[in-house]
Amino acid sequence: MKRINTPYYLILGLIAGLFCFAASAQQKTVKTVRPAATSSLDGKSLFQEFCAVCHGKDAKGGGPAASALKTQPGDLTQISRNNKGNFPDTKILAILKGEQSIAAHGNADMPTWGKTFGDMNVNPNVGQGRMHALVMYLQDIQAK
Ligand code: HEC
Repeated sequence: MKRINTPYYLILGLIAGLFCFAASAQQKTVKTVRPAATSSLDGKSLFQEFCAVCHGKDAKGGGPAASALKTQPGDLTQISRNNKGNFPDTKILAILKGEQSIAAHGNADMPTWGKTFGDMNVNPNVGQGRMHALVMYLQDIQAK
C-alpha cells in the first residue's frame, strides 16, 4: 500500500463524518484523507470542494473542520482589506503552491495544494490552472 504523505492530503468528504465524534470525546480530530479527483477547473467549485471544509462556504472561516484546527482559518474575504486594499495575488498563489509559508513558525493546518493538485492529474498544467482559478475566485470575493 502506498503511504500517504499527510500534510498534503486532506479532510475532504469529512463534512458528513466530522461531527460523528463520540459524545465523550473531549477533542475533535481532523482526519486527513486523500482528496477525490475532480475534473473541475472552476475556482468557485474548487473552493467549495477543497477549501470550504475549513474556510467555510462563504470563505469567512466557519467551515465544519475549523474548530478542530490549532490555527483558525482566517476570513478569506478580508485579504485585500488586510493588505491596504490590494489583493496580493502572487503571494496567495505562492501560499497555495506551498512556496510561501503563512505562519512564521510554520504549521500544517493550512495545507498546500501544489503537490495535491499536481498528483491528481497527469498534466501538471491542470494543477497550475486550478490554483490560478482559486486565486481569481478569492480575488472576486474580496469585501469591498
Ligand atoms: C485543513 C483546513 C484547511 C483547508 C482544507 C484549507 N485551508 Fe486555507 N487556511 C487554513 C488555516 C488554518 C489558515 C491560517 C493559517 C495561519 O494563519 O497560519 C489558512 C490560510 C489560508 C490563506 C492565507 C490567508 C491570509 O490572509 O494570508 C489562504 C489564501 C488560504 N488559506 C486559501 C485556501 C484555499 C484556496 C484552500 C482550498 C484549495 C484552502 N485554503 C484550504 C486551513 C485550511
